[in-house]
Amino acid sequence: MPDLRTEFLDLPLANPLMNASGVWCSVASQLEALAECAAGAMVTKSCTLAQRDGNPEPRYRATPWGSINSMGLPNEGFPYYLNYARCHDYERKPLFMSLAGLTLDDNLTMVAELREAVTPVIMELNLSCPNVPGKAQVGYDFEAMDTFIHEIADAYDRPFGVKLPPYFDIAHFDEAAAILNAYPQIAFVTCINSIGNGLVIDPVSETVVIRPKDGFGGIGGDFVLPTALANVNAFFRRCPDKKIIGCGGVRSGEQVFLHLLAGAALVQVGTQLFEEGPLIFPRLLEELQAIMTAKGYDRITDFQGKLKTL
Ligand code: DOR
Repeated sequence: MPDLRTEFLDLPLANPLMNASGVWCSVASQLEALAECAAGAMVTKSCTLAQRDGNPEPRYRATPWGSINSMGLPNEGFPYYLNYARCHDYERKPLFMSLAGLTLDDNLTMVAELREAVTPVIMELNLSCPNVPGKAQVGYDFEAMDTFIHEIADAYDRPFGVKLPPYFDIAHFDEAAAILNAYPQIAFVTCINSIGNGLVIDPVSETVVIRPKDGFGGIGGDFVLPTALANVNAFFRRCPDKKIIGCGGVRSGEQVFLHLLAGAALVQVGTQLFEEGPLIFPRLLEELQAIMTAKGYDRITDFQGKLKTL
């Protein structure tokens, strides 16, 4: 049986799977289910300083090829997740906490509190929410991204990670990586958030399928796999001192394998976790092990980051 154990920032993990922030991680009962399930790590819903109801419903829709969402950061507020982080059993699995303050000041306030809190929680700073009307994605404004990271790195004395939007141009991979590489404190980069502002149309009703923003929303699932793999591999090649967390288009063990091959250290599951619930994790692990067995791989390091080019 292939060995799926791995490590991340010197922490041992039973396997490289976790949820994507936003899925199955908004309230304590969901977080407890994630803590008990087969995933090797877990992350909380991206939080703002105060509780938010988010955008009007319907705001999520699955299609045969993936999902569209414009949730608008509904969350219980930073103190709620900090409270969970204080009670989490870190022996069982590492916990990441996703922060998505609406302003830099909000992020700085949260980061200051997180610094004081004596918990080994790992911060994932979300620079890529596409769904708050009037708020541009910081990850698409390189000057703003640099300022954000600079200020957060000054205020937070522990290693942390950033969750990026997908990029589609080699010059943008270069520019984003150069910014990240200037900050040794950035220990990991999560690629990718949903592909922002897609539009799904129902041909029968001739309508959009979600209510917020005239139907525009973040795209996840099968649609986004090649973009996710490209971003994972682009940052893996450009940021040799950082870990990459892959996210996007994971429906079976095969896509987990592809993310790892492209250079991911851990792999997050979003859309398909939403559809199946935490029992997806043992299925994905079994499927990954079957692929590894067929290929003669005994452990993840046998193929991780070893994507071949032609
Ligand atoms: O697709 C997303 N939806 N990405 C985020 O970062 C936030 C989330 C939401 O709450 O809208």
